[in-house]
Amino acid sequence: MKKVVVLILALVMTMSLVACGGGSSDGSAAAESDSYIDQIKAKGELVVGTSADYPPYEFHTEIDGVDTIVGFDISIAQAIADDLGVELKIVDMSFENLLMSLSNGEFDMVIAGIEENEERAKTCDFSDPYLESKNLILVRKEDESKYTTLDSLQGVKAGAQNGTICYDRCVKYCGEENTVGLAKVNDLVMELNAGKVDVLFLDYMAVLAYANGNDNLVAVDCGIPSDDLGYSIAVQKGNQEMVDYINGVLTELKDSGAIEQYILDATELAGPEE
Ligand code: ARG
Repeated sequence: MKKVVVLILALVMTMSLVACGGGSSDGSAAAESDSYIDQIKAKGELVVGTSADYPPYEFHTEIDGVDTIVGFDISIAQAIADDLGVELKIVDMSFENLLMSLSNGEFDMVIAGIEENEERAKTCDFSDPYLESKNLILVRKEDESKYTTLDSLQGVKAGAQNGTICYDRCVKYCGEENTVGLAKVNDLVMELNAGKVDVLFLDYMAVLAYANGNDNLVAVDCGIPSDDLGYSIAVQKGNQEMVDYINGVLTELKDSGAIEQYILDATELAGPEE
């Protein structure tokens, strides 16, 4: 097994899956004839927004010569679509535009390694978390022992994805004037490789995946507090029916160990080709 897979396995095993709220649903709200769930079933597809630049959460890969969006978030979305008995349609866009597009009714839900916070909860609703979140930083190999504490990040030129909580942390620890925000994580990784920034703030599994895919880059844990957030699925504000339905499926996926398996599969897929 590749080193990064073992590392992720260890992290997932030691990390207690976030306890679910217990709101079980088997989609029985569908008894109401014009319910949202019924509309999805009538439409025959679950439309899901994501930002597929975040291995192993969601990313592009070639499968049988065809560019395909995969990742453990996508497997979760697929499980929800399967439970509904409909096709899954993925819409890929910049992370910073996802919640606005959700509010405009362009998707039924957003899954994108996204965490609930107060600001976001004003415009959309969130499912129970399906996994705890953590942050690491991505640095060039030669700087591995340079940025090991939060204090060591002060005044360092750093990058983060626009519209993310990681961006806010970057501003907090490195200073606004030192923070470079870009729409796509791939472009941030290029900036890091080119020496235009020295540190990237990303969610931990994305840091591990990019470090695994780039000989020149390594993951560093400098103790960024997680703020007790977890990854959740966002739906339109007030759509409690969707929240309940999704929570029902998430409970099953957590209880059966499916989510751990999705993470392992996605991590393998995200690994460098051999
Ligand atoms: N976890 C962070 C947030 O909620 C960043 C997520 C970025 N996701 C992505 N697919 N690029 O803000």
